[in-house]
Amino acid sequence: MKLLIFWDIYWRNWRRLVKKYLPSLKEKYSPDFIIGNSENMTSGKWPNLKHILEMKELWFDCLTSGDHVFNHLKEIKEYLESEDSIQLVPANFYESRFYKAPGSWLKIIEKNWQKLLIINLLWNAFIGAQSSNPFIKVDEMLEDFKAKKIEFDWIIVDYHRETTAEIYAMSEFLSSRVSFVYGTHTHVQTNDEHILSSWTWMISDIWMVWPLHSSLWQTFETRLPRFISWLNIFGSRPEQDLWLGCLNWVYVEIENKKCKLIEKIRIIEE
Ligand SMILES: [Fe+2]
Repeated sequence: MKLLIFWDIYWRNWRRLVKKYLPSLKEKYSPDFIIGNSENMTSGKWPNLKHILEMKELWFDCLTSGDHVFNHLKEIKEYLESEDSIQLVPANFYESRFYKAPGSWLKIIEKNWQKLLIINLLWNAFIGAQSSNPFIKVDEMLEDFKAKKIEFDWIIVDYHRETTAEIYAMSEFLSSRVSFVYGTHTHVQTNDEHILSSWTWMISDIWMVWPLHSSLWQTFETRLPRFISWLNIFGSRPEQDLWLGCLNWVYVEIENKKCKLIEKIRIIEE
């Protein structure tokens, strides 16, 4: 089973890059599933409905997210609750009898005679009170499926987190229970993809689709004054003319629940 995953389709130009390069990647890898992380897809701050549907048109099976998913909740609330939504929300938002986070906490996809479970979690470290404990939550979810004797051909987890320490702990916690654990949120591709003591693979971060010649999507003209003289002229929106678009993906092969291959893909636009 073949899978293409990437995170942070950031803003207009970077959605354009995904559209431009996806056909050739589909041809080269023939993926059965394509998964992306959409939390900064619209204006660099949230996913809106138009762009979620655009990604669905492009053959995306599922969009994971993170701490920005509810930044424009009003617009996507109805879609998040609909059965054909491809947009996941992190599973460990607080739930109470007063309020419940809308949307689906997990995605089950049945395609090409395979049954896949995707879980999206938010971190513990440095996040304060936004979410409940992701370790306890994911354990409850997996144990619940086990009790109901519901099996999957493979399970993958997008762990949206700050620290490598935490994703290493989470990967070990899920070792031999899921096929692949990958990190998003920190905007740098790590060189630590590896197999754990069981057959589970992990990578701390798969990086993003972004302008390489920028300071996290901002021009150096707006960023440098901040770092040198503490002058805050940081632009509220990313610049349109930033150059050297860069796409980062991981290609994953899984067989009999076991992750067999991870290949990091990097395309820098000419
Ligand atoms: Fe994030």
